[in-house]
Amino acid sequence: MADPTYGARHIAIIMDGNGRWAKKKHLPRALGHKKGVEAVRNIVRVAGETGIKVLTLYAFSSENWSRPADEISDLMGLLRQYIQSDIEEFVENGVRLKVIGNYKALDRDIVGMIDNAIERTSKNDRMTLAVALNYGAQDEMLRAVQSIAMSAKAGEIEPDQININDISNLLDTGELPPLDLLIRTSGELRLSNFLLWQAAYSELYFTDTLWPDFDKRELQKALKSFGDRDRRFGGR
Ligand code: IPE
Ligand code: IPE
Ligand code: MG
Repeated sequence: MADPTYGARHIAIIMDGNGRWAKKKHLPRALGHKKGVEAVRNIVRVAGETGIKVLTLYAFSSENWSRPADEISDLMGLLRQYIQSDIEEFVENGVRLKVIGNYKALDRDIVGMIDNAIERTSKNDRMTLAVALNYGAQDEMLRAVQSIAMSAKAGEIEPDQININDISNLLDTGELPPLDLLIRTSGELRLSNFLLWQAAYSELYFTDTLWPDFDKRELQKALKSFGDRDRRFGGR
């Protein structure tokens, strides 16, 4: 049988369309987000079973703070519930939790839950689940630039010696393998400030499917499409 990952080690998903899913069904937006969490739970399992090594999920962007307060509060409530209810499954299934983005700016109790979950799963090595929370690629790059500038100011590095790997390593994804496939659901054809540096040579896959409907078959379709691509990395 063909490798079900088609060689993709690291995939990332912009999980979009919860609101439109709810609207289509004349349900409150909050229910769309709730269904979205169920889709996350399912896809984390499926990705692990498929043999994906790293799954990075865009859960809350640094720009999502511009949403109404009640929606932000619904999303944070779901995040609390998700960490509490799924941590045992991560421990049992060998899932290592990682968070990218400036998550320390979230509510203190959430930061505590996240730090605890990261600690409890730190030795797991079947799959890494990297959740992007309060994440924006421009903010991530800004933080890396600030860190490099500090090192230069302290005389630890020469500005003309800074190389591409130094920058990659300083990003929140520093220790992760290169991004192979970037998926966006719900038909929007943009990156919305997600993994801008890391996507330099990723394959892109867009589907009209709304996030709550994204399931195993959809993931298999995306991976199959990835398998059909001719990745050149600038060569010929
Ligand atoms: C994605 O669904 C979830 C988050 C951004 C948190 P949306 O809430 O963006 O759903 P749409 O795009 O309005 O349908
Ligand atoms: C991107 O979706 C962020 C997440 C999926 C968490 P958005 O719904 O926020 O993106 P835009 O506003 O349509 O670009
Ligand atoms: Mg959206």
